[in-house]
Parts: sequence; C-alpha cells; structure tokens
Amino acid sequence: MENYIGKRLGRYEIVEQLGEGGMATVYKAFDARLNRFVAVKVILPIQQDRAQFLARFEREARSLAQLSHPNIVKVLDYGEEQGTTYLVMEYLPGGTLKDKLGQPMEWQQAARLLVPIARALEYAHQRNLVHRDVKPANILLTESAQPMLTDFGIAKLLTGDETQLTRTGVGIGTPAYMAPEQGRGEVDHRSDIYSLGIVFYEMITGCQPYRADTPMAVIIKHMNEPLPPPRKFVTELPEVVERVLYKALAKQPEERFQDMGAFADALEVLALGSGEKKLKDLSVPAVKSRKKVLYIVLAVILGLLLLCCVLPWLLYVLDVCLPAGPWPSFPWCNVHIPENHNRLICPPPGPWIQPPWCLGG
Ligand SMILES: Nc1ncnc2c1ncn2[C@@H]1O[C@H](COP(=O)(O)OP(=O)(O)OP(=O)(O)O)[C@@H](O)[C@H]1O
Ligand SMILES: [Mg+2]
Repeated sequence: MENYIGKRLGRYEIVEQLGEGGMATVYKAFDARLNRFVAVKVILPIQQDRAQFLARFEREARSLAQLSHPNIVKVLDYGEEQGTTYLVMEYLPGGTLKDKLGQPMEWQQAARLLVPIARALEYAHQRNLVHRDVKPANILLTESAQPMLTDFGIAKLLTGDETQLTRTGVGIGTPAYMAPEQGRGEVDHRSDIYSLGIVFYEMITGCQPYRADTPMAVIIKHMNEPLPPPRKFVTELPEVVERVLYKALAKQPEERFQDMGAFADALEVLALGSGEKKLKDLSVPAVKSRKKVLYIVLAVILGLLLLCCVLPWLLYVLDVCLPAGPWPSFPWCNVHIPENHNRLICPPPGPWIQPPWCLGG
C-alpha cells in the first residue's frame, strides 16, 4: 500500500497513520481550510468494476453524511484522487473501546457506556440504515471518553452486497460479532442488536463468547452453539443482567429485542441499577444447554423405568385385574394365589423364576 504520510489527498494533509482495518487504512490529516484535524479513511483498491464502485460509493457516502446524531462519527467529505478513494470523518483522539477490553468491566459501567451507542443505532434504524459491523473497534472515544459509533454502513458502501466476500474471506461484518443470520447473508436491524449484545457480553466477561481457529468456524459457532453462561466468568453477575444478554443474543431474530429502542431502554435500566424490578417480566428464549439436555434424557429414562417396573409391581401388589376382553390379562390374574402369599416380597406368578423364599407356599 502506498505511503501517504506527508502527502495530500484533496485538501487534506496526511499527518500520521491511526490504524488499519481489513478494507481501509485510517490516517490523521490536517484540514488547512477549516484549521482542524480530521480522520481520512483510504479505501484499499477494490477489485470490481471501478465506475460502478465509484457510483455506489458516492451514493452511500452522501447518505451517510446525512446522519446527524451526537454519538455517530460524522462523515464530512469524500473524494477520489488518482485512483485513491477516501472518506473524511471527524477525528476522535480517545482511541477505541477495543483498547479498553481484555478484562471484565463492571456491568453497570458497561451498560452506561453502551446506552448512547444503542440510541445512535436506534436513530439510524429509524432511517432504515443498518450498521452491519457493530464491534468495539468501531466504537471510538472522545477526549472526555464519550462513546461514538463509526463506520456506519461502511460494509455495504464498500461491497454493495452483504452476501459478497471481503478480502479476509468472510461475509460482511466481523465474525466474532456477527449474528447467526448474517452468516447466511440475511441482515436486518436485529443483526445490529445481536452484535451490540456480543459487545456487552465481552465488556462484562472480558472475553468473546465464540472463538475458533478460522472465521468460518466462529460463524458456525454463532449459529449452533448455546451462549456460554456469562456467570461462568463473572459469578456475582446479577441474574437480570444475564437475562438481558440472553434476550439480545437469541439465535432467532424473532426472539431478540425487536427494536434497538427496547434494548437501549433495558441497558438504561441496568445502568441506573433498577433492573431487578423493571425487567422482571423480560421474556428470555429457552436456553438449551448441554446440561439441560442431559437432565431431560435422565428424566425420560427414569420415567420409562417407573412405567415398566414400578407400575406393574404396584398393580400386582394391589391385585388389580382387567375385566375379561380381547386383551391379555395380567399374569397374576386367573391364577390361584395361596392366602399366605406375601405380595410385597414375592413377585407375581409368571414366566420367571420365583425367589426360594416364595417357593414354599
Ligand atoms: N475517526 C477516527 N478518529 C480516530 N481514529 C480512528 C478513526 N476512525 C478509525 N480510527 C482508528 O483507525 C483504526 C482502523 O479503523 P478501520 O475502521 O479501518 O478498521 P477496523 O474498524 O479496526 O476494522 P475493519 O474496518 O477491518 O472491520 C481504528 O481501530 C481506530 O484506531
Ligand atoms: Mg472501523
């Protein structure tokens, strides 16, 4: 990739590199006309029909520039110079939420940090814009540590098609934060709810719920594996926080919070510490954990045992016989049983060997 440092892109003087992602490199640049620093995102060359790409890029960049929310990083400008396409955004000096992760954060603080992000997403969803790539690296922090969401719709802007493969060889989005349906190329606003749920999970527990050696293996885990219980990592986590996580991270979009506003409300309640009362009616999808499945199997075996062994014994002890009919009768019916026969300790007469103490009578 070309080194832009010290050069100009449009009216922006590139000062230093801020970071690099899968599809772009971000630079700090100086806008001499407005006398301020900006962030310039230089898109890596795209192997697609260039004219078609530019037309879409322009269209999407214009629509992103319309977003105006205090917690969404503003798109200020875009341009193309000698085959280099770039997007100009507000410069945020506080780093990203990703830099702050790695160890469990206090859950109330995590909820407090995510409320503005959830509200920003709610605002965009109301305008029919889905983010598609909500993750800690896309939550930037201001100097006063206020969270700001960036890279809105960038995934779509770059490829135009959420089912297409990016250069890292995975679907649009970042596997560690991708909703199960996103892995199948189906995206709607509820996919953002899931991704934000994963961010909340990671903040609270200090780790991502699904990890594997390849991006595809991570996507498959999101689709099939039950959520590792958050309280496995943070034992003192209140049950209500866990319930909010299970709700946001339901595999089926229909079982999640149905709109970002509802998730934001729940986070707000948690941030205020009044969750136990206000979220007591929150419906949570059934969690099929391996342990639960084992208990169900054991219960079925026990039930069968009761039905096959205990029930016949009880019928025999109580000397229950069916009325005559075209059905077989119980083996102890129509058989002469001596008066002194102890039904409790001797099995019913039948095609089995009687214990020796029952033979005498
Ligand atoms: N507006 C900005 N102000 C300051 N730093 C920024 C800004 N935008 C991005 N950065 C920095 O640049 C880094 C790279 O950003 P970029 O969006 O290209 O990649 P990513 O979000 O980490 O991953 P990807 O885009 O591949 O999913 C970010 O992690 C952040 O440190
Ligand atoms: Mg980014």
